[in-house]
Amino acid sequence: MTAPRKILVTSALPYANGAIHLGHLVEYIQTDIWVRFQKMRGHNCHYVCADDTHGTPIMLRAEKEGITPEQLIARVHGEHSRDFAGFHIAFDNYYSTHSDETRTHAEDIYAKLQTAGLIETRAIEQFYDPVKEMFLPDRFIKGECPKCGAKDQYGDNCEVCGAAYAPAELKNPYSAVSGAKPEMRNSEHYFFKLSDPRCQAFLREWTRGGQLQAEAANKMQEWLGADGENKLSDWDISRDAPYFGFRIPGADNKFFYVWLDAPVGYMGSFQNLANRVGLNFDEYWQDGSETELYHFIGKDILYFHALFWPAMLKFSGHRTPTNVFAHGFLTVDGAKMSKSRGTFITAESYLTTGLNPEWLRYYFAAKLNGSMEDIDLSLDDFIARVNSDLIGKYINIASRCAGFLTKGFGGKIAFDADADLVAMARAGSDTIAECYEQRDYGRALREIMAIADRANGVIASVAPWTIAKQDPTSPALQAICSEALEVFRLLTLYLKPVLPKLAEQVESFLGIPAQGWAEVPVHLTKGHLINNYSHLMQRIDPKQVEALVAANRDSLAATPAVEPKKEKKVEAKPEQVAATSNDNAFISIDDFMKIDLRIAKIANAEHVEGADKLIRLQLDLGALGTRQVFAGIKSAYDPALLIGRLTVMVANLAPRKMKFGMSEGMVLAASDTEGNTSGLYILSPDSGATPGMKVK
Ligand code: MSP
Ligand code: ZN
Repeated sequence: MTAPRKILVTSALPYANGAIHLGHLVEYIQTDIWVRFQKMRGHNCHYVCADDTHGTPIMLRAEKEGITPEQLIARVHGEHSRDFAGFHIAFDNYYSTHSDETRTHAEDIYAKLQTAGLIETRAIEQFYDPVKEMFLPDRFIKGECPKCGAKDQYGDNCEVCGAAYAPAELKNPYSAVSGAKPEMRNSEHYFFKLSDPRCQAFLREWTRGGQLQAEAANKMQEWLGADGENKLSDWDISRDAPYFGFRIPGADNKFFYVWLDAPVGYMGSFQNLANRVGLNFDEYWQDGSETELYHFIGKDILYFHALFWPAMLKFSGHRTPTNVFAHGFLTVDGAKMSKSRGTFITAESYLTTGLNPEWLRYYFAAKLNGSMEDIDLSLDDFIARVNSDLIGKYINIASRCAGFLTKGFGGKIAFDADADLVAMARAGSDTIAECYEQRDYGRALREIMAIADRANGVIASVAPWTIAKQDPTSPALQAICSEALEVFRLLTLYLKPVLPKLAEQVESFLGIPAQGWAEVPVHLTKGHLINNYSHLMQRIDPKQVEALVAANRDSLAATPAVEPKKEKKVEAKPEQVAATSNDNAFISIDDFMKIDLRIAKIANAEHVEGADKLIRLQLDLGALGTRQVFAGIKSAYDPALLIGRLTVMVANLAPRKMKFGMSEGMVLAASDTEGNTSGLYILSPDSGATPGMKVK
């Protein structure tokens, strides 16, 4: 066997001001599976993470709760640790960026960048809140959209018309913190000179190393531009007081921007671990290191991890990441997680509702393939997949066979180690390992379930239950049940990165030590005694999933939104904004106002004889009377379920005579751009809207 690899793995550091939710878990579960797999292969693999504790939102959040930022981050550290443990995420260290280790490394990196001539100061103009006496990050400035006039829009983009702009372009801006009218003020800022030719050259070379995912490499090409082009702008790494973070050494009342010290938190956490268990920090981080370093991240933070971070490392005398593994975003039932629908599901609520964390680990694993595609948690599919694969195929093998061994043979194993069934199960081990290594867990699980299918087929054809009726001590019965349990042992080993707790239960049921990949050829030996089988895993009851959705709908309606709007990744350049304003893809607000959108109550809905796509709707517009509309939504809706619902209609569309009668307007429905009718979603207003209300 080749020497064990030395591998350091990280997951992105979650912000210390919000709860862990199922979207986060896509990442932590994915990383944990990979780390567990590497450990099972016998490698030295260290998995570190931490809370990302600095920045304005955390400072303000603490203030709102009447506690210090230190108190807030201590509490959240406890909550996050609890949630991760609940999902069996086994960090070797879960630390905090608010630590001496992180501070020391951040200061060291900054000093080296300064020595390399890559830090520059320059005065910038920024909005200042004169009441709160602080400079305002873009997302703490609100005002009217310069394009469409919508009120209460954030300083970087409009949620109504989608326009992107600089905060200075907002009309009637106000501070989202105090409500005061902000002033433009000058302030000296520190920049990391990413536009320096050395940075450009290094990042081009790093991108072309061939290790990045194809989608990530493409993104990098786009950010870097063609050869000779210099598209990167300098990165503003300082913030003015008041700020919760690390002071910049040698600067007057300036702090490192949270994203400067956040990735350094990976080092801080590892340093803390190294000090505790006696690892050599430099062996993992120094330039020229022969160890491997991988960052698992969401696609939204690729810019930080694939541009800023490698450049920071490179020019401060450190090694650069071996690779950055980016994943897509989680949707639930095909849509963004939503508090009103109850699909913004917190990790805590999942556990307290009594759902088994390994069900979710299995489902996410089945959906992950190592790419940056978004992944969907379809709640019906979740129930069906877990019940059919885990209970129906995998657990089934043990639950059908173990009892006969206990009853007829005192739990004693006896089978031919060369049996075809066992050889078949063992033959899958290299392919499955390769799938895990490549992070194509979906394929790993398909391979594993194919083995389970074949095993179930053989068991069914031999029918131990029939043999047992005739002779409960028949050697043939002992052989098939023993073979089945050996296959079950192998399946458990293969599933162990995904289902670590279940695997432990199985190991104790089979009476064997903890298994790693080295145990693939080690079979249950003749005469080995198994313990009594007790049921290993419940099926998912759809009622539990309903309760989960209900729990999130209720609890979140009571508390205001917790997920902070993310710090903007790339400063929007004023030039870019100016360019888009001439774009004739836009319509004017006057154009938009021509459309009379109204809240309509569906007073009646029925099938239309002879029409295969249409439903006839009677829409109640309150004071505006009723309208008949033929809507092409039959593929997606049962008319009976539409009656009584509120929706949105275009009320001033010219009436049109159709084969079945007059259509006097149109209801709005969402679908993908191809107009694929398999997914059609009519709109619903929030509760409180009444028929006839204008929508604008
Ligand atoms: N604090 C930064 C990361 C700093 S790393 C040096 C941050 N925190 S976060 O809490 O917003 O997100 C943590 C991780 O969870 C990120 O990798 C992010 O992409 C991921 N996810 C957050 N919501 C997600 C989904 N809905 N779906 C999938 N991953 C998601 O970013
Ligand atoms: Zn707008």
